[in-house]
Amino acid sequence: MKILNVGVIGLGRLGKKHALTIGGSVANARLAAVCDPVASLMDDVRGQFPGASAFKSPQELIDSSDVDAVVIASATNTHTELLREVIAAGKPVFCEKPLSLDISEAKEICRLTEERNSFVQIGFMRRFDNGYAKAKQAVENGEIGDVISIHCISRDPGAPPVEFVKTSGGLFFDLAVHDIDLIRWFLDDPVKTVRASAACLKYTELAEAGDVDHGNIHFTTRKGLQADAEASRNAEYGYDVRTEIIGTRGAVFVGNNSCMNVSFMTKGKASVQTVPGFLERFEQAYETELGVFVNDVLKGKKPSVTAYDGMMAVLLAGEAKRSFYDKKEVEIKED
Ligand SMILES: NC(=O)c1ccc[n+]([C@@H]2O[C@H](COP(=O)([O-])OP(=O)(O)OC[C@H]3O[C@@H](n4cnc5c(N)ncnc54)[C@H](O)[C@@H]3O)[C@@H](O)[C@H]2O)c1
Repeated sequence: MKILNVGVIGLGRLGKKHALTIGGSVANARLAAVCDPVASLMDDVRGQFPGASAFKSPQELIDSSDVDAVVIASATNTHTELLREVIAAGKPVFCEKPLSLDISEAKEICRLTEERNSFVQIGFMRRFDNGYAKAKQAVENGEIGDVISIHCISRDPGAPPVEFVKTSGGLFFDLAVHDIDLIRWFLDDPVKTVRASAACLKYTELAEAGDVDHGNIHFTTRKGLQADAEASRNAEYGYDVRTEIIGTRGAVFVGNNSCMNVSFMTKGKASVQTVPGFLERFEQAYETELGVFVNDVLKGKKPSVTAYDGMMAVLLAGEAKRSFYDKKEVEIKED
């Protein structure tokens, strides 16, 4: 089997994890190159994978003849430009969510992807989590009848650094975008209306940066299916991601608050150990999505999470944000 030589752009919290996963545990992949303006981050990864080249500029990495495919895990406001460059170079690309912070740029990436027949996979890793994948299978097998509604909770244990917020698009684009993708995936019916409310209740530094720390979004689809998503930075107790999919003959619940399948019991008290963060909760999903990326590229398959999925999540996140600021329901014309 051929080996895919992968270059990783951006080596922050998630990019480092992706680089180490590509280098260490993805079959038929090799970590060929890394790029981050912070040299120590490149040194850190190359300490474990000395064969990986270090590039100061993303363009050099993209153009390198030793790089067959690219992973973009840099700050969100760099995604569109880097996608343009990788697509122009004719190389397959895995790009972290969100695809862009701007809907017209997201549509441009979709158009370029189609025109060039490019391989673009978006990093909605929840689709590859064993629990979510099993839930999807159950829904597709008709085990809960026809889907009626979906309830999503995404609570972070704290606020991200303000510097991150400045480039991330804030709560709607950075966090709610995951549930927006799940809602599209599970309901499989175009969203017709979006209504959102939000507030900054705890982290005043986020309000100063123009962001909020808690939001609730309600969606109705064309068939009238119902969905809601709570996105919050206020789960002091731990990282809390849960989803309930309700059907005419049953329901599927994904996720719980425990990081281990164990409860601690003392007199009058039961407790579990909570999940510290996204890296721990979705470790298996991050590894699986990159394995699927490498395998699908090598086998000439279509991407499993497309640029179109990324674009629709950007569109709905943007409309949810608009609904919050305009204090009114927004109608969605596109599907
Ligand atoms: N799928 C998920 O669950 C998930 C989780 C966390 C982050 N993310 C996404 O991953 C991306 C990175 O997030 P993070 O938490 O790792 O952020 P981070 O701030 O920890 O890291 C970002 C890194 O990108 C580097 N960078 C910035 N501009 C660059 C450029 N032009 N070229 C190369 N490197 C550049 C920075 O130096 C930094 O090291 C974001 O888009 C974020 O939305 C996704």
